[in-house]
This record gives sequence, structure tokens and C-alpha cells, in this order.
Amino acid sequence: MTKRVVLAYSGGLDTSVAVRWMIQEWGVEVICLLVDVGQDVKSSESFAEIKARALAAGALECVTVDAKREMAEEFCAPAIFANALYEGKYPLVSALSRPVIDRHLVDQARKFNAQAVAHGCTGKGNDQVRFEVGTHALAPELEVLAPARNWGMTRADSVDFAQKWEIPIKATKEKIYSIDENLWGRAIECGAIEDPWAAPPEEPYTLTRVTTTEPVELTLSFVSGVPSAIDGVNMELAELIAAVNARAGSTGFGRLDMVENRRVGIKSREVYECPGALALITAHADLEDLVLERDVHHEKARLESRWAELVYDGMWFSPLKEALDAFIADTQRHVTGDVRLRFDPPGLLRVVGRRSPKALYDYGLATYEAADTFRHSDAEGFVHIYGLGVKTWAARQGAKNSTPPTP
Ligand code: ARG
Repeated sequence: MTKRVVLAYSGGLDTSVAVRWMIQEWGVEVICLLVDVGQDVKSSESFAEIKARALAAGALECVTVDAKREMAEEFCAPAIFANALYEGKYPLVSALSRPVIDRHLVDQARKFNAQAVAHGCTGKGNDQVRFEVGTHALAPELEVLAPARNWGMTRADSVDFAQKWEIPIKATKEKIYSIDENLWGRAIECGAIEDPWAAPPEEPYTLTRVTTTEPVELTLSFVSGVPSAIDGVNMELAELIAAVNARAGSTGFGRLDMVENRRVGIKSREVYECPGALALITAHADLEDLVLERDVHHEKARLESRWAELVYDGMWFSPLKEALDAFIADTQRHVTGDVRLRFDPPGLLRVVGRRSPKALYDYGLATYEAADTFRHSDAEGFVHIYGLGVKTWAARQGAKNSTPPTP
């Protein structure tokens, strides 16, 4: 029986070449799967064009799946709950879309009775890890093939290969950037960006071109951690993320320029534009400042970076990630309220107000005005006992030298 493979297909050069290469080299049947996670394929090319390319390359079929809503509700929402920023900066754009695609790869493999799934990633990146570890977690019986890790072709070789097989590609031998995008943002690699000293070129940015000189203000509402409305208008999450991308992006907010640690041990200079993701996480984290109890808040902060690391490392479907999700979900029960954001072009975001029916902020306790309800006399005993250990230590074992240095 001929082996059947479902390939995660983007329509780009590598995955188009992968279709024909696997047929020729491995004698397999290929089904292409194009998952719409909010990448902008539609504006540059229609899905019909991409599908035609897959078939021209030799695929038996090309299935498309609209997973924008799924990506928003099941992947971006938990990332917002976790204020997820890898290495404190990167909102996991590509890392969040891979498990969405994994799920559909496995689903289609079962529908088509395939024995394997495949991806077009090279051996140097994180995405191979995410595709493979994710697939193994969902379907340990499926094999995962990585043709681009085996073929040893340069980009120019791939273009020649596509021409030889009459695959209608748009790519040329000189490719400038490698771009991965979805509704959570855009990741840009290669070209001039590979020199970490060189300022990033303006040209690859599309979401964060400044188109206004006026400040933009918006009020984001959250219900149990989930963004639910902009300026009082309720929206589905996928739609809301797209709207924040557009409004925040128009002020130039949302660019990142970083050197990051890939899972495979390589340091890489990457630039990102993620106006919606960064604005939503900023607003969400600010609302948590208002509603989370101190110990829960501090413990959550410790776990957030671990959550982001796991997701970055391809461990979306893993027992630790699941356990952290349970903790984080519990913390979100009262994260309900509104946050006011102000964007000043180019690229500055400030939170200028927040309110919540669940706020732990108590005016009577906080104020220095006449409405003060705090019992000042309680503080005396508290501070005495709190500092007692240090006082005893200083008295018995020698007070610290209190002579300031002579100028
Ligand atoms: N470095 C980022 C990550 O690992 C972005 C990867 C982008 N992927 C790509 N195929 N261009 O999540």
C-alpha cells in the first residue's frame, strides 16, 4: 500500500517543493492542508490560487480549514491569561499557531487514513520541534516527515526544482525575508535582520506603519480574563484582535527587535510586529494588578514565564502546560473590568485608567484624605513584630556599621 502523508501546506516555495520531492524521493501520496490562522494570504493570493499550486505540485487534494476563531479562543486567550511573553518580550506568534495546525494535521491524517504528517521546516528552527512534539502528543502512532531537513537543497536549487516540475511558484532565487504571520502578529527573519547591529529595515513591516499623527484612545473590556469589547462594542475574540491590530498598529505601536534563544541552541535576531497581542497583554496585566490578591499575583508572575517557555519550546500539549493552565484559569475568575489605553504615535502605549467591579483597590484604605478607614494604630504592632528578627540579630551579633562613607 502506498504511504499517505498529510503536509502542512503554506503555499510558499518550500512546502510546494516538498509535495513533489516527497512523491519523487519517498514514493508517497500527498494531501495538502492549508490552515487559515489569520495569515494574510487572501490579500496577496487567493486560497484558490494556493490550492491550484498544491495540485500542480502533485497533491491528491488540498484541504483548507478556517481556524481563526479556534486560534483566537483556544490559543490566544490562554496566552492573554498567562500574559505570555517569551524571554519577557515575544508574544509567541508562531509558537501559538503550530499547535492549532498540529491538531488539524492529525484530524486530516485520520480522515484520509494517512500514516504520516509532514512539515516544511528546516533543522535550525523551533517550528520543527513544535510540529513534531505536538503531533506525537496528539497521535503517537503517526510518523512525522521533514523533507526540508533531508533534501539538502539551497533556495536556488528549490527554485530550479519547482521550474523543472512546472510548479507555479512566485518565489525567486533571492528571497529577502522569511515571514510567518497569523492573527497574533508577524515574525520577520533573514536578510538584513541577520546582522544584529543593523537597524531593522522599514520595508517588511505591514501592521505597524504609522498612518496617524493623532493619539488613539480605546477602552478594552475583559470578562474573566477574556477581552470582550472595544469602547463598549462587544466582539468575538478573533474580530477584536484584528481590530486592535489595526487601531494600535496605525500608531506604530507593536514592534519588537530582539535576539532570542531558540530551543535548538541558536541565538537569533528577530523582529516582530504584534500590536494587538502586546496591547491586549498590557491591558490584561494591568487589570490583574487591580483584581488579583497579592500572593496569587506574585505566584502567577513566577509561573507565567514558565508557561511562555513551554509554549515556545513546543510543549503546548504537555502535562506541565496543562497543570499550569489549570492554575492560571483559576486566577482569571475575577479578571473582569475595563482598561483605558492611550497610543501616542509613533509607537508609545500607556495605560491611563482601569476599573473593575471585582477590584481589590479600596479607596478608604488607600486614601490620605479624610475618608481614610485604615487603623493606623495597627501598623505599630505589625511593624514591630515584622522587624523583630532583624532587631534581635542586630542587638546580639552587632549592629551594622552606620557611618556613611566620607566624601
Ligand atoms: N522565532 C520565532 C519563533 O520561533 C518565529 C519563527 C518564525 N517562523 C518562520 N518560519 N519564519 O516562534
